[in-house]
Amino acid sequence: MEISSKSMEKAICFIVFSFLLVSANTLVESHQEGYISGVISKKGLDFAKDLLIEKAVSSIFPLHLPDIEKSVKIPLIGKVNLGLSDIVIYSVDFPSSSVETGDSGIVLVASGATANLRMKWKYSYKSWVFTISDHGTANVEVLGMVVELNAAIINEEGTLKLFLLDHGCHVKDISIDVDGGASWLYQGIVDAFQGKLVSAVEDAITKNIQKGIIKLDSKLQSIPKQLQVNSVVALNVTFVDDPLLTNSSVELEINGLFNEADEISVSNYYRKRSQNFLSGNGLANMVEISLHEKVFESAASVYFNGGYMHWTVDQIPESLMNTDGWRYIIPQLYERYPDDDMNLHMIVTSPPIIRIADHDINTAIYADLIFEVLNSDEVVPVACISLVINASCSAEMHRNNLAGRIRLIDFTAALAWSNIGNLYMQLVQAAISTILKTFFMPYLNLHLRDGFPLPLPHGFTLQNAEIIILDSRVMVRSDLSYKDRYDLSSRY
Ligand SMILES: *[C@@H]1O[C@H](CO)[C@@H](O)[C@H](O)[C@H]1NC(C)=O
Ligand SMILES: *[C@@H]1O[C@H](CO)[C@@H](O)[C@H](O)[C@H]1NC(C)=O
Ligand SMILES: *[C@@H]1O[C@H](CO)[C@@H](O)[C@H](O)[C@H]1NC(C)=O
Repeated sequence: MEISSKSMEKAICFIVFSFLLVSANTLVESHQEGYISGVISKKGLDFAKDLLIEKAVSSIFPLHLPDIEKSVKIPLIGKVNLGLSDIVIYSVDFPSSSVETGDSGIVLVASGATANLRMKWKYSYKSWVFTISDHGTANVEVLGMVVELNAAIINEEGTLKLFLLDHGCHVKDISIDVDGGASWLYQGIVDAFQGKLVSAVEDAITKNIQKGIIKLDSKLQSIPKQLQVNSVVALNVTFVDDPLLTNSSVELEINGLFNEADEISVSNYYRKRSQNFLSGNGLANMVEISLHEKVFESAASVYFNGGYMHWTVDQIPESLMNTDGWRYIIPQLYERYPDDDMNLHMIVTSPPIIRIADHDINTAIYADLIFEVLNSDEVVPVACISLVINASCSAEMHRNNLAGRIRLIDFTAALAWSNIGNLYMQLVQAAISTILKTFFMPYLNLHLRDGFPLPLPHGFTLQNAEIIILDSRVMVRSDLSYKDRYDLSSRY
């Protein structure tokens, strides 16, 4: 009765609180869009549940319970002071457990659990003028234990907040095995302490669930909102909207756009191992992470705005670095600057456009190719050709990193300005094609090869990831594995 009215109170508090949050959100800011979404499937939830139980068991047990003392009347002996001390739950086994999600949050139930306890017993009583006492040890087995918890998860200003709505632990049966002692002792201990031991176990486990949830919640709170990828870009991993809990999955959305890396606000949190969230209903994999084309565009745009998208062209055929090599392509160039060395610059002129269609990531890059001549210690810009480069990207996973590979499809070239008269664009085009293929594409691939880490909780690695490219999104479906040396009690 008391328990259920308490949990009712909590549930009402929670409902009122979340209502306040929801209305505050809708008043203050309009609906925000998440460009990276993650779905944790039933299989993923089961994986997480097993991991959580495993970690909880290893961090809670051995668990010390408070000492218990009691005076009891024993037939033929009289009043005896009995005491139990050093009571330790040293092992617990959860043979079956389940996790359910839905409107009422996340419900985790572990049933049929057993626990083993060790303890010391002692007694003393007065017989005539003597005090008689003895002590020894006992083993206790707790059987048919059911542990339940119901938690809700909401978005509070961009981080996830975990609330315990209800929880409990119920012990069905207990068996006590006393080593040594007088013949009456066993029954005395059972009569005096059975009930107390049961409630001590139930209390201790219940309290530890509360502590565990608080700990887990503070880990969620401490997840930074920016994931630094390198010195240039950081991924905004701020959660948008509340997690969506259906009966078969949990869906999460993060802002998912790249920002300029800010050394101060960005922590090294995700550096060691990358992370990720994905989606999928009735999904065979544990998670599905879906990235909108805007995610890729935002990265390109940070590099563009940071002034990183210009290059001095090298690693092209030697002949193209001298006016002599252009002799037949741009005759006026050779006539005015015979046999001079040249510089070529490639400058991207607007943030690259990225469009994702079925099975294809298409990108359009607008760039200027500037020709300079090195004429007696003077650098003379002589011409500029505007390019629209059309390329196709493929995506691949390298561990937790989503990487890419770019391939030239075609390009158009138009003369922007020239100090050396008209160019034969058809001939120039062939030379530019060489520049794009031998310099520009390999250069981009060098950088795309590293990719960026998908936002996954610390310690998790994608397993057998599959990439699906579909209508404005790249989706990664994968199972997860977990690095065991990672300690849930100290790091999330
Ligand atoms: C999950 O919910 C859908 C409808 O929302 C229902 O059709 C389906 O049977 C439910 N599945 C389970 C396992 O309860
Ligand atoms: C990160 O995303 C959140 C949620 O969409 C947004 O409110 C915030 O302004 C973003 N931060 C930056 C630095 O863009
Ligand atoms: C780029 O090439 C693809 C495939 O040939 C084509 O569908 C697309 O329209 C082209 N885009 C531009 C901007 O030329």
